Amino acid sequence: MKILVTGGAGFIGSNFLNLFVPRYKNYHFINLDKLTYAANPLNLTELESLPNYTFVHGDITDYAWLENVFDNYSPELVVHFAAESHVDRSIIGPEAFVHVNVNGTFNLLEVCRKKWEKMGGKLFLHISTDEVYGSLGQTGYFTENMPYFPSSPYSASKASADHFVRAYYVTYGLPAIVSNCSNNYGPYQFPEKLIPLIILNALSGKQLPVYGKGDNVRDWLYVDDHCRALWELTQKGKLGETYNIGGNNEWKNIEIVEEICRLLAEETGKDKDEYLNLIAFVEDRPGHDKRYAIDASKIKNETEWEPLEDFSTGLRKTIRWYLENQEWVEKVKTGEYLQWMELNYNHRSRLN
Ligand code: NAD
Ligand code: DAU
Repeated sequence: MKILVTGGAGFIGSNFLNLFVPRYKNYHFINLDKLTYAANPLNLTELESLPNYTFVHGDITDYAWLENVFDNYSPELVVHFAAESHVDRSIIGPEAFVHVNVNGTFNLLEVCRKKWEKMGGKLFLHISTDEVYGSLGQTGYFTENMPYFPSSPYSASKASADHFVRAYYVTYGLPAIVSNCSNNYGPYQFPEKLIPLIILNALSGKQLPVYGKGDNVRDWLYVDDHCRALWELTQKGKLGETYNIGGNNEWKNIEIVEEICRLLAEETGKDKDEYLNLIAFVEDRPGHDKRYAIDASKIKNETEWEPLEDFSTGLRKTIRWYLENQEWVEKVKTGEYLQWMELNYNHRSRLN
């Protein structure tokens, strides 16, 4: 079986490939990635020599090139991770999000529709986000039948892509599933996202920027748990369905930042106040969703999946990974990264 993984050099995609390429030798994994700022070839070094792994460098917004990829490799299964994924970047520059997340997904759907008519395809698994549902109040959970209510250009672009995937299932019978997952954390995450940003800033003695009062709530899931859920869906998911994936693990942002400071102090032997004193409450993200929380009972009932990683052990593992992978960290902190830090943080006034 040939499986095309888009965006496999990014955070979740590379964790997915590192878990499953060595394990499933009867699958040939073709990793199609543009290698944007969020990707890192170092994420994939363990896979390069494996016979069931191929890397293809290219762009999902290039339709003609996608056709060639399908002609060359004839994949029957597509796991679609490739996207612009950062909410703050979508606020500063929304256009790229429409281009990649909407047009890119549309191209992939089109190429599958046309090529699979003749060669037959098994599944288009579209990896989406819980942010399509908008914000929750203090109670309740996102279920699969909730209306979409995206707040940011990022979540609006993902919502649009989700609708296209569903429409291709309904209209053309394209075998498709949509998964909507909550916040992931773990190794290989680009340090523009909260957890790696806080770890690396703290280690460099830089400010730890917390938006607003730090009381927004996210539902965190260790990345391997998300990847295992996706694999279950490739095997047991029902075509045309949507599955929510989450860890039942809600934390206020400020609590996470404080927990990272505590764990870092244990790992480095420094006083935890050295880290805690770096916390700065800064101007909020516009349109900042208050709370996300997933009801994952559907995937739990229909497959054997459940999250395995506990948050405190997962967070400690993640911190150790960033401490032990200095080459990766240095490669990531390039000019582009420094420019982003300036663009997103320099204009934010401090609130405390
Ligand atoms: P990421 O930003 O770390 O990686 C994105 C990958 O896509 C990179 O390797 C990048 O090079 C590639 N890419 C971007 N544009 C491309 C293009 N035009 N053509 C080919 N490749 C391109 O993202 P991530 O955090 O790994 O997220 C992966 C997917 O999962 C996204 O679709 C995201 O919306 C979704 N998701 C992420 C989270 C999370 O917490 N990170 C949670 C739920 C859903
Ligand atoms: O819920 C799933 C989504 O989770 C994914 O679809 C997105 O791709 C992924 O980036 C993530 O989105 P968030 O916006 O929730 O993640 P982020 O790490 O950017 O922010 C987490 C929370 O921390 C959020 O409430 C904003 C806050 N935050 C973030 C940054 C970068 C801060 O307080 N300070 C910061 O500097």
